[in-house]
Amino acid sequence: MGGASVAPRMSLRGRDVISIRDLSREEIEEILAAGRRMIPYAEGSKVSRPLADQIVAMAFFEPSTRTRLSFESAVQRLGGSCITIADMSATSMRKGESLSDTIHMLSGYADAIVIRHPNEGSARLAARVSAKPVLNAGDGAGQHPTQTLLDLATMQEAFGTLAGLRVVLLGDLRFGRTVHSLAYALALFGADLVLTSPPTLGLPEELKAPLEHLGAKVTTEPDIARAVADADVLYVTRIQKERFPDEAEYRKVAGSYRIDASVLAHAKPRLIVMHPLPRAGEIAAEVDATPHAAYFRQAFLAVPVRMALLDAVLGEPKRKG
Ligand code: NCD
Repeated sequence: MGGASVAPRMSLRGRDVISIRDLSREEIEEILAAGRRMIPYAEGSKVSRPLADQIVAMAFFEPSTRTRLSFESAVQRLGGSCITIADMSATSMRKGESLSDTIHMLSGYADAIVIRHPNEGSARLAARVSAKPVLNAGDGAGQHPTQTLLDLATMQEAFGTLAGLRVVLLGDLRFGRTVHSLAYALALFGADLVLTSPPTLGLPEELKAPLEHLGAKVTTEPDIARAVADADVLYVTRIQKERFPDEAEYRKVAGSYRIDASVLAHAKPRLIVMHPLPRAGEIAAEVDATPHAAYFRQAFLAVPVRMALLDAVLGEPKRKG
């Protein structure tokens, strides 16, 4: 690629990405387009190093496999390097250090910070403290905007468009941060939303209102078979066990839905099944071999999409503001 960057010419340089609402529709479109161009670089068949000499801190205070490793892969494919906190128990936070002190210090060690933390609002707090751009990789039951970017990329790759798609969001819509960010973005792009969840795990009202404000068609369909029948996308989520205030409440809903070949028997031939992963029994392994399974492609697209975002945020000049 030489000196020419595949990053879009946009105003993301030095910006924080904490909520999906921090990005305009045009900015999301540009990231998705740049993400498509990044695929051969993510696969390693082309090489570009726009992040050479840059360091990205991975501050992960909650378990992660895909998000952290795809971010690390993205940084390294772009020629940058990472410093990583992968386990809160191995940091001075165990000694009582505050999140803001930890972030303050990290912002002196790195050119950007990717943070995942169990508390909603923690990424916004980190962005206020950090002199360097902060990317939210999941804040409690809050937001997960970079997951949304790769989710949109997966749907766009499959269908060529997002407008008019009928997308079923299935599972834990109450505590699931991936669907909190995704529902907003889908509404922004004119998709129709079908909400399917156990009654106690519905999408919070305060997140529904903005969807209606955007003019989205949002319906609630508790019956999975009926929801799947005319869907283009079935986005399955894990019940977020760790966010339940009460174990007894979790037990009431545990295992209450499962997608298998029989559920998909009457689906549209082009239906894609997505899942941010990890799955914990919501999708039977037999689905993997069907043409509906899109979750491993989705997990791969994390790399080019995060490359596009990092390139856009960290291109020269690298300071915030
Ligand atoms: C999700 C998360 O952490 O919110 N995982 C991910 O980032 N791919 C979904 C989940 O943990 O259920």
